[in-house]
Amino acid sequence: MYGLVNKAIKDLVVENHGQEKWQEICTAVGFEESDFISMSPYPDKLTYDLVGAASKILKTDANAILEAFGEYWILYTAEQGYGDLLDLSGASFTEFLGNLDMLHLRINNMMPELKAPLFSTQNETKNSVELLYKSHRKGLVPMLIGLIKGLGKRFDMVVQIEELPSAESSEKGLVFKITW
Ligand code: HEM
Repeated sequence: MYGLVNKAIKDLVVENHGQEKWQEICTAVGFEESDFISMSPYPDKLTYDLVGAASKILKTDANAILEAFGEYWILYTAEQGYGDLLDLSGASFTEFLGNLDMLHLRINNMMPELKAPLFSTQNETKNSVELLYKSHRKGLVPMLIGLIKGLGKRFDMVVQIEELPSAESSEKGLVFKITW
């Protein structure tokens, strides 16, 4: 994943637990550089290893870290120069969800090796919508849940998210019902 993701993990850890804990995590995964380069791609394994090491060292469930990270990402990207893009991606929560592929496509122009997930929305009602999520990666559902909660907060909404049953090998991906 692009360095921007690893940098956000670093920021989240340093903000909540301090620089020393972050150093321990870097040592545990064998990352010896002083920082990540936002616009450079890094192996996915590094990102998963950072979350795994953070989980052990901070004694926090890895899924809880991923969810907190997802929520943080909405604030972090706004501060890192993507605020206008976020503003343009939707004037309402549901409009924003419907524009997620467009958002990642714009990012893709700047980050050519981006492997963004695919999204679409369906069955919208006045207090719910279903989001289809298709990823190239495994294990990132807790991050998605954090992202959706963070996005809800951006629109002053408290959202509940429930994964709907779908076939294991479903071509369409996973379906989440979001209610507010
Ligand atoms: C301006 C804001 C955003 C930027 C700059 C951004 C950029 C990125 C980047 C760099 C990655 C890593 C993928 C890679 O390096 O190959 C990523 C992954 C991801 N993004 Fe976004 N994103 C943004 C907003 C969002 C929002 C609002 C959502 C959903 C609510 C979202 C959902 C995801 C998910 C779930 C992944 C995990 C990767 C996967 O499932 O394979 N992103 N995004």
